[in-house]
Amino acid sequence: MCGIFGCILKEGNAAPLIHSSLKRLEYRGYDSVGIATISDGKIFMKKDQGKIDEVHKILNLDDLPGNLGIGHTRWATHGAPLKVNSHPHTDCTGEIMVVHNGIVENFMELKAELQNLGHTFVSKTDTEVIPHLIEETLKNNPKLSFVSAIQESIKRLEGSYALAIISSRDPDKIICARNESPLVLGINGKGVFCASDIPAFLPITNKAVMINNGELVILTAQGYEIKKISDSTPITREPITIEWTAEMAVKQGYPHFMIKEIHEQPETLRNTLRMQDHYLDLLTTFLDRANEVFLVACGTSYHACLAASYMFSKLAFLPTYPVYASEFVEQHGKSVNIDSTILAVSQSGETADTLAAVTCAQQRAATILGLTNVIGSTLTRISRVYIGTQAGPEIGVAATKTFTSQLSVLAQLALKLSKKRGKISQDEMDCLEENLKKMPEDVETIVRTQEEKIKQIAHKYKDSKVFFYLGRGISTATAYEGRLKLMEIAYIPSIAFPAGESKHGPISLVENGFPVVFICPRDDSHKTLIGNIMEMKARGAHIISVIEEGDEEIKALSEEYIEVPKGIPSVLSPIPFVVPLQLLAYYTALEKGLDPDMPRNLAKSVTVK
Ligand code: F6R
Repeated sequence: MCGIFGCILKEGNAAPLIHSSLKRLEYRGYDSVGIATISDGKIFMKKDQGKIDEVHKILNLDDLPGNLGIGHTRWATHGAPLKVNSHPHTDCTGEIMVVHNGIVENFMELKAELQNLGHTFVSKTDTEVIPHLIEETLKNNPKLSFVSAIQESIKRLEGSYALAIISSRDPDKIICARNESPLVLGINGKGVFCASDIPAFLPITNKAVMINNGELVILTAQGYEIKKISDSTPITREPITIEWTAEMAVKQGYPHFMIKEIHEQPETLRNTLRMQDHYLDLLTTFLDRANEVFLVACGTSYHACLAASYMFSKLAFLPTYPVYASEFVEQHGKSVNIDSTILAVSQSGETADTLAAVTCAQQRAATILGLTNVIGSTLTRISRVYIGTQAGPEIGVAATKTFTSQLSVLAQLALKLSKKRGKISQDEMDCLEENLKKMPEDVETIVRTQEEKIKQIAHKYKDSKVFFYLGRGISTATAYEGRLKLMEIAYIPSIAFPAGESKHGPISLVENGFPVVFICPRDDSHKTLIGNIMEMKARGAHIISVIEEGDEEIKALSEEYIEVPKGIPSVLSPIPFVVPLQLLAYYTALEKGLDPDMPRNLAKSVTVK
C-alpha cells in the first residue's frame, strides 16, 4: 500500500515534518522508509529498511537540509523489504527522486527497454523505471521542461500510481501525479503538502484538495496547479475543510478498520488482479508438475484453501488437499515427501501452525509455495516461490479484504493451470476471465446496494442464540467463512456445514425462528439447495439467503434476502458472496455493542502453536 508525503515550506527545514508525517502514515506499511530533500539546488537523501523509528535512530532522518522534500514509508510489493528497494528511487544521474505508491504493471517491458538504452537499475522494484524513464525523455528532448518530461513519461505507465517527484534540475517544485492510488494536497499559510492520505498532514492543516485519477499537480512555495495528464487542460479546485479528528482520519472517516477494509475490497481486488503474470506462471508451473498438492492454512486462510480446492478441481482437473495447518504434521507429516507440493496461504506469513506445517514438509524435501499479504514475512523467506496478495496492511483482527484477495489469486492460478492443461473451452475461459475482471465492480455494487438492508437484518437477528450457515459445493467455503466472521466478532455461536449434511444430524437443532443463512449462487447445485431450504423451512427456520439478483424462486422462500449481481460463475462466487456475510457480522457486532476491531481473546497474528 505504501505512504507518500511531500512538502514545500515557506520557512524551515522540511525533513522533520516529512518524518513526523510519515509516522502518521505508518499504518500503510513500514518495511522501509526514505526521505529526499533539496537545498541550494542539491539533492540529499536518506533511506533504509525497517520501521521509521528504527531507521531514524540510526540515520537521524531529521538531519537533512532544505525546505522542500519527499518521503515514503513502504509496504513491499515488488522486491523484498531491503534498503536497495526502499524509496526514493533515482535515475542514473541521481538528479531525479521519485516516491511511488501503486503498481506499474508494465515495468518489466519498460525496464528491458531502458536497460537496452544503457540505464543501470539497482533495485527489484517497479518504481525504479519511473526516474529512468524521465531521464530518458529529457535526454531525447533536451528542450522539454522537467514537468513536461514527467507528463510524457507517465503517459507510458500502465497500472496504478500516486507519485511525488523532485529534481535538482527544477529544484523549487514537487510534481505529483495520480492514477488509482490515493493522493491529496494540504494547504496552509506555512506551505503546501502532498500525501497518500489526510492523516499525514491533519495536525498541520485541515484544508485539503483531493486529486483525481489522470491528474498532474505542480507544487511550489506559492501554491498548487492541477492539470490533466492527457492534454494539460488546467483544473481549478478549491480546498475543502476536513472535519475529522486524527483518529477518524486514519480510518478515513469509518468508525472501525473492519468496515473500512470491507469497503476497500474493490480497490484491493483491483490491485490483486494486476498481479504480474510472471509470478502466476511460475507458481502454475510448480502446481502443474506436482504429484500431490496440499493447501495448508489456518482460519480464514484455510477457507480460501477450501474454496481453491474446488477451483483447481473444476477448472484444471487438479486434485488438491486443503488441510488445517495445525493438523498437517499429525495427518501428513510422515507421508509428505519430495514429490509433494505445499501451497501455504497466510495473510500474515507468520502464523505458527502454518510455519510448523511448512517446516515439516520442507524437512521432507517437499516443494514450498507461499501466498501471503506480507512480503518479507517468514513464509516468503522459506517458500521456493511466493506471491503477495496486494491487499495492503489489514488492521482489523477479522480478515476481510485479504480473504477476497487470496481468493482472487487462487482463482487466477486455477485459470492459468486450466489454460496450460487445456481443460476448458476458450468461451468458458473468456467468460471466467471477464467475470474475474469485473469482480471489483460487483463487490462495489453489493456494498452500495445491500449495506442498509444488511444493517436491518443484523438488527432483527442480533439476539439469536445460534446461526446456521449452509451452502453446497464451493459455497461451503463461503458458509464456513461467514460463520467464522459472525462468531469471532459478534460472539454468536454458529455452525456451518455443507447443506447436504444437515439432514444427517444438525437439523435436529432447528426450531421456530432459527436463523439459517443459505449461500445460493445459481450453479448446478441450485435445485438441490432449494430442497435443503425447504427442509429447513418445514421445521420453522427463518431463511436468510444470499442470492443472485432476480432469483425469484429462493426469494419467495426467504424471510430475508441479500442480492449480488447476476451471472457470477460458481467457481468465482465466494468472492462476491462473502461480502454480505462480512457486513452481516460487522453490523451484528455493532448491534450488540461490541468492538469489531478488537474481538476478545484474538490476535491479528497467531505466533504460538
Ligand atoms: C479470522 C482470522 C483468522 C486468520 C488465521 C490465520 O478472521 O483472521 O482466522 O485467518 O489466524 O492467519 P494468517 O492468514 O495470517 O495465517
